[in-house]
Amino acid sequence: MDFTDILEKRRAVNFFDPDRDVEDALLRKIVEQAGNAPSSYNLQPWKLKILRDPERKKALRALAFDQPKITEAPVILMVLADRDGWKIDSPTAQKVFADFVKVGKMQEDQQEWFSGVTNALYGRSEDAVQAFANKNTGLFAMSLMYAATANGLESHPMDGFDHDAVCKEFEIPDNYWIPMLIAIGYLKPGITVYPKSWRQSFEEIVID
Ligand SMILES: Cc1cc2nc3c(=O)[nH]c(=O)nc-3n(C[C@H](O)[C@H](O)[C@H](O)COP(=O)(O)O)c2cc1C
Repeated sequence: MDFTDILEKRRAVNFFDPDRDVEDALLRKIVEQAGNAPSSYNLQPWKLKILRDPERKKALRALAFDQPKITEAPVILMVLADRDGWKIDSPTAQKVFADFVKVGKMQEDQQEWFSGVTNALYGRSEDAVQAFANKNTGLFAMSLMYAATANGLESHPMDGFDHDAVCKEFEIPDNYWIPMLIAIGYLKPGITVYPKSWRQSFEEIVID
């Protein structure tokens, strides 16, 4: 499938085949492919919780406007945006810095400087922190959906859920925000996906 096909074929599918599972190896593949997404200073402030257990999905559905796809899809990805991901002492930021040193982009003694930069850019206010976490994790989420399409799977992003109630139910640590849930699976047999919905034209997208 070339990239144009992937762009055209990806749809937010409402009806999943509850009897067709997504194998662990395939799920791992799409998560690893999506991990190629770009991020601010390569800080990759994203994590996933993978929900397969019917009871946990039922609990989630009850907090998400009773959307049937949550229990029909074999896999729900809870996408987590790490609001602490810009901090130099976060495990991911430590690995990013070590990698920069390894490839010669930064020197060992620049850790404090790097910390100052990420603090000034992403940690300067609550809004900046939230924007940092969500913009980068949104790119990862988009990559997950394109990777799903490229591998013959269907997906559906959802922000129709009670954020705080979901965090409480699933004991999500305070540093994470949940930008969206993504249902992953296969289309239910006999279902026709709605025709593609309206999109802005080039002229409407570009403003003066
Ligand atoms: C962040 C985000 C949240 C969404 N939340 C929901 C949702 O909770 N329930 C739902 O039915 N669709 C949801 N959608 C799906 C959109 O309605 C859908 O992507 C849009 O209508 C375009 O259709 P398409 O994805 O098939 O091209 C969401 C999409 C995005 C990107």
